[in-house]
Amino acid sequence: MTAKIIDGKSFAEGLRSRVAGHVERLKAEHGITPGLAVVIVGHDPASQVYVTNKAKQTAEVGMASFKYELPEDASEAELLELVKRLNADQAVHGILVQLPVPKHIDANKVIEAIDPAKDVDSFTPANVGKVQIGLPGPVSCTPLGCLMLLRDELGSLAGLNAVIIGRSNLVGKPMMQLLLRDNCTVTVAHSRTQNLADVVRQADIVVAAVGRPEMIKGDWIKPGATVIDVGINRVPAPEKGEGKTRLVGDVDFTSAKEVAAAITPVPGGVGPMTIACLLANTVTTASLINNLVPPSDLTA
Ligand code: GUN
Repeated sequence: MTAKIIDGKSFAEGLRSRVAGHVERLKAEHGITPGLAVVIVGHDPASQVYVTNKAKQTAEVGMASFKYELPEDASEAELLELVKRLNADQAVHGILVQLPVPKHIDANKVIEAIDPAKDVDSFTPANVGKVQIGLPGPVSCTPLGCLMLLRDELGSLAGLNAVIIGRSNLVGKPMMQLLLRDNCTVTVAHSRTQNLADVVRQADIVVAAVGRPEMIKGDWIKPGATVIDVGINRVPAPEKGEGKTRLVGDVDFTSAKEVAAAITPVPGGVGPMTIACLLANTVTTASLINNLVPPSDLTA
């Protein structure tokens, strides 16, 4: 069997056009222009690319886009001061501080400084709690994107065995909550899990978010499973020329696609969904801030 390749790029385009429609309605019917502020500290090249894409796509769906670039040696106090200003700014409905921040800054302290009402990453303790108990609010972008792709592929997820590899606050833990909410039986595996291949072999749904290039092999996959690869790893590609690199996921795509029923590629799978979900979350927070019911087709 050769798996269906899940086209995250095209799904994200559809989501962005739904977002643009809701932005248009918020402007026309309520005089609200949703605004997203993206903050980057330092010059990590991968983060720079993400942040530039986020700002560009924000403007493309008709939202106000604010980009703040702080130098690598900016102090924690400066960053906290900026977050405080953005919390108070009425034109801003979403605040994203690109992670990682430089080592001299406490990321948790920065996250906790963000007004939960504007926390489009859903990283603040208040929003993590809301997701856990099923209250409306923003849902972490990457897990939300994965969930949308899974629902689109499989319909109801009820009763399916889901194995998440990776227990990060950014992906693994919120993904666990969302899949539980959709009535999956969820296992969260991680670097200390014993017999990982056997654990993954039980999964109808595999969500790979470990950050290790091509670690999950085709013979770990249950025939007919749906595989969502969150990994974005840059590896050397000498076949393309000296010093060249290519992007690969956490799943060994070549072997896994021969076993799975459906699989996301890297690039073009989960990646484009993350930014589209960030835009969707900004419409959600802009609606909630203005006491409007957020659109149901943009969230979990
Ligand atoms: N760095 C990598 N992914 C993310 C994300 O989803 N949000 C933020 N704020 N930083 C990131």
